[in-house]
Amino acid sequence: MLGRSVVVLSGIILSLMMTQVIHAQTRAETIQENTAPVGQVNVAGASEQAAAAAAAASAPLSPEALYKKNCAFCHDTGTAGAPKYADKAGWAPHLAKGQDVLKEHALKGFKAMPAKGLCPQCSDADTLAALDHLLKSVQ
Ligand code: HEC
Repeated sequence: MLGRSVVVLSGIILSLMMTQVIHAQTRAETIQENTAPVGQVNVAGASEQAAAAAAAASAPLSPEALYKKNCAFCHDTGTAGAPKYADKAGWAPHLAKGQDVLKEHALKGFKAMPAKGLCPQCSDADTLAALDHLLKSVQ
């Protein structure tokens, strides 16, 4: 069931990203058409805009965005007994284990907590950034 949600989620995220890229391209083309008689300066502006939009689509995610993408599914709601975001009391027994253990469990998994949350293909750095965002909510 979880595997299926992951596939569905990734599908939604991918199609959202594609829509943005396509939208940016269409917009750039429209601008290019509209400004064509004016000359090179505007045309260059339009392609710069398209490049910026493409760069934004592939830019690295912020810790908050990484948390939302890979951890919030369980930690916002308490799914499967996950300690909740900003729930200091709920996190107390986990925090007592110390940061090193929490980092290791975020990366390698622990009981119902899957390794790297919902993102087995994520880098360690991205997972730790998401963890940092989560832990800041209970410090
Ligand atoms: C599929 C649900 C799920 C997802 C997604 C998830 N977690 Fe968890 N997480 C859990 C559950 C359940 C626990 C409680 C495990 C226990 O102590 O029994 C937990 C516990 C933890 C703990 C405490 C571990 C300990 O040793 O006490 C950390 C740290 C943690 N999660 C980090 C993260 C991070 C960071 C992410 C995103 C990268 C994430 N989790 C995504 C379910 C999830």
